Amino acid sequence: MIVTPDNATLEQAADLLRQGKCVGIPTETVYGLAGDGLNPEALARIFEIKQRPHFDPLILHVPSGYDIETLVTDVPEAARKLMAAFWPGALTLVLPKRPDVPDLATSGLPSVGVRCPDHTVAQELLRIFADVLAAPSANRFGRISPTTAHAVREELGDAVPLILDGGPCQRGIESTIIDCTEGRLRLARPGSLEVEEIESVVGPIERTRRDGPPNAPGMLKNHYAPRTTLYLSHSPFEPEMTRLEGYGFILMREGGIPHRSVFELSSRGNLIEAGARLFQLMREADARNLRCLIAFPVPDTGIGAAINDRLKRASSGSVVWRQGEWIME
Ligand code: TXA
Ligand code: MG
Repeated sequence: MIVTPDNATLEQAADLLRQGKCVGIPTETVYGLAGDGLNPEALARIFEIKQRPHFDPLILHVPSGYDIETLVTDVPEAARKLMAAFWPGALTLVLPKRPDVPDLATSGLPSVGVRCPDHTVAQELLRIFADVLAAPSANRFGRISPTTAHAVREELGDAVPLILDGGPCQRGIESTIIDCTEGRLRLARPGSLEVEEIESVVGPIERTRRDGPPNAPGMLKNHYAPRTTLYLSHSPFEPEMTRLEGYGFILMREGGIPHRSVFELSSRGNLIEAGARLFQLMREADARNLRCLIAFPVPDTGIGAAINDRLKRASSGSVVWRQGEWIME
């Protein structure tokens, strides 16, 4: 059931959470499937509802002002600076966990991902529940993250008893994840908070990716995927591409030739707006039951890097446009 957050529904949500049940919650990035972060039964339920493999650890969400040393054994100076600068906000820090953080939350890893969401509904619920909430994106494993309450229901149906409707997510792309457990800072997942902003506070961070499990699940090669096969175009958009039937296009701007199968991320060419609309547009494009979708990368700066990362992971390969045809690369 989708409900408007007010005192009564927030209490109801907190009650469900105390019983080990799950609740759909809005955050500034994407909607989360929240459960009691320290209750193994609730954590198991999250994995079951999402059909998520157990090697994929969860992020613990904490209220503003929370003392994270309750959850972690060490907070490096750089991590403290980042929390001071960006929390509440779209930044997840991976830190060494305390033994009482359940292994189910961290998939057996010695570290835990923690974030403080910047959304009044999430914060209100955390305050009433008075403990930490595990909240992965509220989609079935591998699918597009939901950025509206309706998208949560579309993804998870009746498996979630309550979804708090906090409106469309302002950022629309998951949090940026920084791993702080390796003696230096490493970008584990590009996200809504620009890496450049992070670096302006703590200096250069490592961007190399560590391969092999356990890796950020959002970093799996195929993730965030629509049902319709999506290809990444290595050719720039041309209006003539829309002449072929059955193709849909996801791109920054259509450039003055509107077409019913062209899905425009931001008519102003604004990357923040594009990020906020990306997953919803992918859902709308998916609902058209087209033969395939062609996505065009956006400028790779700021949040554009995270948008391109998601497009690439949603895609089944790349294509080029040659002599009026799409050719697989
Ligand atoms: O914006 C977000 O972060 C959203 C909202 C709901 O807060 N949540 C989200 O959760 O994106 P999820 O479960 O879809 O992605 C969690 C990511 C995973 O890719 C996981 O690998 C990474 O966080 N992660 C969690 N704990 C980790 C750890 N100990 N080490 C490395 N990566 C970790
Ligand atoms: Mg996810």
